[in-house]
Amino acid sequence: MLLEVEALNVRYGRNHAVRDVSLSVAEGEIVTVLGANGAGKSSLLKAIQGTVSSSSKVARFSGNDLLSLSSHKRVSSGLVLVPEGRQIFVSMTVHENLLMGAYCRRDTEVAADIEGVYGRFPNLAQRRDLPASVLSGGEQQMLAISRALLARPTLMMLDEPSLGLSPILVNQLFDLITSLNREGLSILLVEQNTHKALQTAARGYVLELGRVVVEGTPEQLRSGEQLEAAYLGAG
Ligand SMILES: Nc1ncnc2c1ncn2[C@@H]1O[C@H](COP(=O)(O)OP(=O)(O)O)[C@@H](O)[C@H]1O
Ligand SMILES: [Mg+2]
Repeated sequence: MLLEVEALNVRYGRNHAVRDVSLSVAEGEIVTVLGANGAGKSSLLKAIQGTVSSSSKVARFSGNDLLSLSSHKRVSSGLVLVPEGRQIFVSMTVHENLLMGAYCRRDTEVAADIEGVYGRFPNLAQRRDLPASVLSGGEQQMLAISRALLARPTLMMLDEPSLGLSPILVNQLFDLITSLNREGLSILLVEQNTHKALQTAARGYVLELGRVVVEGTPEQLRSGEQLEAAYLGAG
């Protein structure tokens, strides 16, 4: 397994947001985590990235014990998070945003990788010297993903990347996720767009009030009652 966590817990004071969650992502896999607002999805990803504190029985990535790695070290070991709401630096240029994504690298191929991003996304290339605030929502999501790619990850975690995008852009986004995966990137995808997520992922987990209530293949998740219940429960 590329990523393996067992019995992971996140507490914010008395709010026990993530409760004994166990999940794994194999090399080359797309895995999705579904659940209603407040289910603990973002907290789970942040705990894996190391930006909120957590406790767990097992937390391993790429053969390393995550607890021994700072959040920065996790990035340089190949684990990146594209956060909820994109969080690009709107007052910096597109190019500067991409450079920020490579902050953990010491090699000499950053410029070539940025050119690769511009080749893939002509809209970003055309706006490379403009502040990122001029980008549309869809372009900002492409920039957020590109910035994460600049870390040369092996596992990309995406937190609700389709939020706020039009249906056409949502389709483009999922096409991009699929192509990145074909190029070898493993993906842990948090989504509210259950339909698209289950079309794209090989396996999934449903979180309800911090716990995994069901896991399995898309067929298993669609056919069970827990998926719908998880959304209705918190709605
Ligand atoms: N920084 C925080 N401090 C306190 N409580 C938080 C914080 N972030 C999230 N929570 C709470 O933790 C629970 C899970 O939130 P979150 O992980 O954001 O869920 P989701 O991403 O599934 O919507 C919610 O009850 C939320 O209010
Ligand atoms: Mg969230």
